[in-house]
Amino acid sequence: MKIIAIETSHDDTSVVLYENRKILHDFSFSQTAFHKKFGGTVPEYASRQHLIHLAEILPQLLKTDLTNLDHIAYTNEPGLVGSLHMGKLFAKALALALGVKAKPVNHMFGHIFAVAFTSKITYPALALIVSGGHTQLWDVQSFNSIKLISQTSDDAAGEAFDKVARALKLGFPGGPLIDKLYNKDKVDGIFNIRSQQDLAFSFSGLKTKVLNYINNQKQKDLPIDKAYIASNFQYSIINYLINKMKIAVDKYKPQAIILGGGVAANSLLRQEFALLHSHSLIPAMQFTTDNAMMIAIYSHLKELND
Ligand code: KG4
Ligand code: ZN
Repeated sequence: MKIIAIETSHDDTSVVLYENRKILHDFSFSQTAFHKKFGGTVPEYASRQHLIHLAEILPQLLKTDLTNLDHIAYTNEPGLVGSLHMGKLFAKALALALGVKAKPVNHMFGHIFAVAFTSKITYPALALIVSGGHTQLWDVQSFNSIKLISQTSDDAAGEAFDKVARALKLGFPGGPLIDKLYNKDKVDGIFNIRSQQDLAFSFSGLKTKVLNYINNQKQKDLPIDKAYIASNFQYSIINYLINKMKIAVDKYKPQAIILGGGVAANSLLRQEFALLHSHSLIPAMQFTTDNAMMIAIYSHLKELND
């Protein structure tokens, strides 16, 4: 099945031509460098950047072999409203011009099914999706039966990484920079937080603990050891996520567990998640961040099973 997939929910403009689990062409632009100077994504600029990039992608896409195109899949939710709108308009116009249907795909389902590129999913599965905007636990019974179990009541895990990195003046996005500084020998548990024995997520307590520590050090004119703070923060947040997954696995007894979202690139999370279950599915690094490949594979699998 040949599909054009479009992902513009946040700050990546990604369009791929996909056929049967293979990416034939990948036209993707990251806006990270553009938004870096603002210390985070500016929604209005993101929409305008999508418009510029989509206009660049269109002539290149039309040069590819689009014979036997089945449909166009595009991210319709959740995400930045203006950014989503750009992708939707592009998808609808292209669908009209090429005489195929434009089909909406939930961005989170894309993150869940990104692992299908490299692994076979067995059901029922539990999926932990951790990104800059979301921290969610999903009950995945099949392609068509995906139910939200719980999500964060405040910050998303990636957002906490980004905020701590900003306080440490490491740069944006913060997750990979904190991960790079992580050194297990520096971990002494200073930021450990007590987690409730339920499946609710909250990161504001941990974030405040770290920010208060940094402010205290500053006020007392004490040194700020970035690697020490980054290592202890990373250890604490990943430990928290892993403990929540342990509770979920005990409760739901899934056949497989799935990891997804930008924070799935974290080295400690990948290492610990793999130990949680005999069928632990972790996406290849290129499928962790937002990309149209995951939108394509979910749309394909859904079509096959509809
Ligand atoms: O899924 P994604 O690309 O975009 C959203 O939909 O949010 O996730 C981006 C998030 C950012 O918060 C970034 O700091 C985080 O993923 N991230 C990481 C790592 N790589 C990216 N967090 C922790 N460790 C990493 N290695
Ligand atoms: Zn995402």
